[in-house]
Amino acid sequence: MAIPDSFIDELVARTDIAEVVSSYVKLTKRSGANEFGLCPFHSEKTPSFSINRDKQAFYCFGCGRGGGVINFIREIENLSFREAVDMLAKRAGMTVPETDGRERTEERRRMLDLNRDAARFYHDTLAAARGGAAASYMRSRGISPRMARMFGLGAAPDSWDALLAAMKGKGYGEGELVDAGLARRGKNGAPYDYFRDRLIFPVIDVRGGVIGFSGRALADGGPKYLNSPDTRVFSKSRNLFALNLAKKSKAGMLILTEGNIDVVSLHGAGVDCAVASLGTSLTGEQARLMTRYTDKAVICYDNDEAGQKATERAIGILEKTGLNVRVLRLGGAKDPDEYVRKYGGDSFLNLLDKSENHMEYRLRSILSEVDMKTDEGRVSYLTRAVEALADVPSAAEREVFGRTAAKSAGVSYEAVENEVRKQRRALAKKEKSKLRRAEERPDATVQPDDRALRYENEYSAVAEEGVVRCLFSDPETFKAVREADLKPEEFTSEFLGRVYARLLERDGADERAPPSAILAALEPSEASHLTKLLRRPSSKREGVREMRDYIERIREERLKSEGDITAALIAVQKIKQRKEMG
Ligand code: UTP
Ligand code: MN
Repeated sequence: MAIPDSFIDELVARTDIAEVVSSYVKLTKRSGANEFGLCPFHSEKTPSFSINRDKQAFYCFGCGRGGGVINFIREIENLSFREAVDMLAKRAGMTVPETDGRERTEERRRMLDLNRDAARFYHDTLAAARGGAAASYMRSRGISPRMARMFGLGAAPDSWDALLAAMKGKGYGEGELVDAGLARRGKNGAPYDYFRDRLIFPVIDVRGGVIGFSGRALADGGPKYLNSPDTRVFSKSRNLFALNLAKKSKAGMLILTEGNIDVVSLHGAGVDCAVASLGTSLTGEQARLMTRYTDKAVICYDNDEAGQKATERAIGILEKTGLNVRVLRLGGAKDPDEYVRKYGGDSFLNLLDKSENHMEYRLRSILSEVDMKTDEGRVSYLTRAVEALADVPSAAEREVFGRTAAKSAGVSYEAVENEVRKQRRALAKKEKSKLRRAEERPDATVQPDDRALRYENEYSAVAEEGVVRCLFSDPETFKAVREADLKPEEFTSEFLGRVYARLLERDGADERAPPSAILAALEPSEASHLTKLLRRPSSKREGVREMRDYIERIREERLKSEGDITAALIAVQKIKQRKEMG
């Protein structure tokens, strides 16, 4: 099914991460086996992005991203695992095994077909009598039949198996619907329709494939939106709703909104370049995707505090990709949908003309939050303006908006310039010391950054991390886990258990590039976390003895959590005895 591990190992062994990375990142500093440069994944002024030639891995002390060369290419080029492998294979002059490729493409094609048939079913339902509730909801939101056709909107019936039955009738299996995220399995294992009694927005990629769905509830109660989970063909963080339509716009920009309905309304009002992120906050991948179609992004989020916060965040992410970023402020409406329904599309285009450069936006936001009539207020304005200005990479922009800020506060530009310079120096210093701390105490943090990976039992998880690390660094330790018959199910962390299971499968495989195949297939946050834990501890050597301790600790923790105190005490006793015996 997948590309064989042996191929990935070979590919990674033939590829030098330093060479690949250096065509994206200028590596300027060296310390031991590590080389440093400015991180391409977050904005910074001193280099905290490192690559390690020995481990053939990258890691950023600033944002915590990490992985192997395949993970790097996936993230920076916004590619799927398969596409990244293809790209690196080409570079290394290798041919990716053919049959797998065909099988994979076949699986994808089948899921895309299912999605298209499901979209058609929902769309037909919206038109037919059963779509009654959804159709009247749609009308109440002012969505015209023309828009419904353009977006391929649909209705999921108020039924547990309407879609299942229809798709089975077309020859799809239950398992296929579950894989595609269209159905879920209940406790008894029987599948049921995931989207029920909802207005359906198909998510269509730039090639026209239906990759997922978003379903809005027709009434209050329950989650307002349900979205397809990530599947073989769908990744929320790498796609944008309506980009398939907006990419054809002649407007020369993309307007980024928060909601599906905002996008539909804007298109309905003649603003055909609107897109939305898919129920996630904007990601770097989405920003990079936008750069393929435009060099100008206009943020038009909801007119509330959450929207303002999200705007600040989005500015940073979009700026980073080199897009020209502007912010559109809605007056007299809570979101773009309400705005165009109240005032019309032309009025919206008017606002668009008046949209602000992101620094104008920031300075004005600050201005609106302080009282410039008092000295206190002016000081507070200047402090915050200087902070924002110090963040701007372009010196020209710093000057233009530094002058604006100086004028607003009634001080000389030189004074502002001076403060900005000081602030930039302080920031650089802070980054540097943060970096040093991170280098010196690499094992200070335990919990993964990604919430989904959070450890429930930290004590056990630390030992589980140890097991994984030992196996990566010393093949001898495989004997110890076999001897103790440690099972993946004994892990408290699902993620670490999964990595452990993969390691067991690979026991005895080619040792030249041990972590690469496992690392390469992981999701970005998983790869980052694994890279981070493999860096730890940098000095101490871990071998069979440490492995035995880790296994004992996992079992001890398990007994404790099962409430068997006596057994736990015996286990502790045993460890002590072993330690005493040396
Ligand atoms: P909003 O709550 O602003 O929804 O969430 P909306 O699209 O403007 O819809 P209306 O106008 O309130 O009916 C913005 C986006 O966040 C995601 C959806 O993609 C939505 O379009 N979202 C929201 C979810 O994924 N789940 C939710 O429960 C709510
Ligand atoms: Mn909204």
